[in-house]
Amino acid sequence: MSILDSRITRRRFIQSAGGLALAASPFATTHVFAQGAPLRVGLMLPYTGTFASLGNAITNAFKLYVAENGGKLAGRTIEYVVLDDESDPAKAVDNASRLVNRDKVDVLVGTVHSGVQMGMVKVSRESGVLSIIPNAGAGAATGPLCAPNIFRTSFTNWQTIHALGKVMVERGHKTAAWISWKYAAGEEMFGGFKEGYEKAGGKIVKELWLPFPNVEFQALLTEIAAARPSATACFFAGGGAVKFVKDYDAAGLKAKIPLFGNGFLTDGTLQAQGAAAQGVYTTLHYADSLDLERDREFRLNYAKTYKLQPDVYAVQGYDAAQLLHIGLKAVKGDVKATKAMIAAMEGVTIDSPRGKWKMSRSHNPIQDSYLRQVVGEQNKYVSVAWKALEDPARGCRMA
Ligand code: BEZ
Repeated sequence: MSILDSRITRRRFIQSAGGLALAASPFATTHVFAQGAPLRVGLMLPYTGTFASLGNAITNAFKLYVAENGGKLAGRTIEYVVLDDESDPAKAVDNASRLVNRDKVDVLVGTVHSGVQMGMVKVSRESGVLSIIPNAGAGAATGPLCAPNIFRTSFTNWQTIHALGKVMVERGHKTAAWISWKYAAGEEMFGGFKEGYEKAGGKIVKELWLPFPNVEFQALLTEIAAARPSATACFFAGGGAVKFVKDYDAAGLKAKIPLFGNGFLTDGTLQAQGAAAQGVYTTLHYADSLDLERDREFRLNYAKTYKLQPDVYAVQGYDAAQLLHIGLKAVKGDVKATKAMIAAMEGVTIDSPRGKWKMSRSHNPIQDSYLRQVVGEQNKYVSVAWKALEDPARGCRMA
């Protein structure tokens, strides 16, 4: 059984950077900083369900960065407390509270699902624990609910799809159907797509939704065919994205009504999607063939360590560890020196495998959005669809 397997069979446990697994004590002692004492990182991510591969990629890359730095960040050995959030918003507040109040984590890293993120944001705001979001794009986390102790190394949902409408209209697709899961991320991505597509002169002629994480697409595919749009735009990720792309192709739609999406549709999924994904265009802040030394080095190390190709989720997890390292270095590992640590993390430029990006005032990446096309098992870089795209962060008033 791999380390990863052993992690997901027990719901929560502590794991040192060296890989030794120890049973989690429910009576963790109050943290007192001592030079050399381990730093407890709570990884609250999905390790089961449709987003399991996303949680695993984030975890792998976070641990890779720590391992590349000798298993320590700013002199502190990293001890992981790992929790499977199951992409279940109903359990989010309880899960995050347990990590903070019972397991006494020093830093909270998570999660993938926007609905779960809202529960984590509540706990982060109330407890003041330093929190790094390595995926979930919920706009509120760096919008109306932004806070000094909450940072994101991924994206807002709006940011991932804002450029797509312009790309589609430029390719002659002036009418589109939209399809996604009906939950916070799907709805925010729809908003971002609609804004950009209509501004570019496009018209959405059909809106289709199904509950998360449902993958019964057949009836909705029939509705797309009947609506006869010029193209389809969508948001799906993980296991759901694999099935959607395959079903769309099997229904005979791909050749008649080209499929577009933000890049979650084809990131980390291409081996499973095979021929069904070939040629699909997407927008995202990462691509598989970026001409960057930092990316080449990251991809090589990731592939060597995990015998897997990295994806966008891995990049975001890697950058979460990079950001934490920058903060810790500024305070010589004393995570309780919160103000100084936050000051060091604000306005930082991260040298990421995706290309350099800058932290916005609302604590969200300002980054290029790439147009990519699936060729073989790669999301090949085509062009920069939007340079230095910054989320408007509406409603963020940093205290
Ligand atoms: C979200 O729920 O925010 C999300 C999940 C998977 C991929 C992208 C965004």
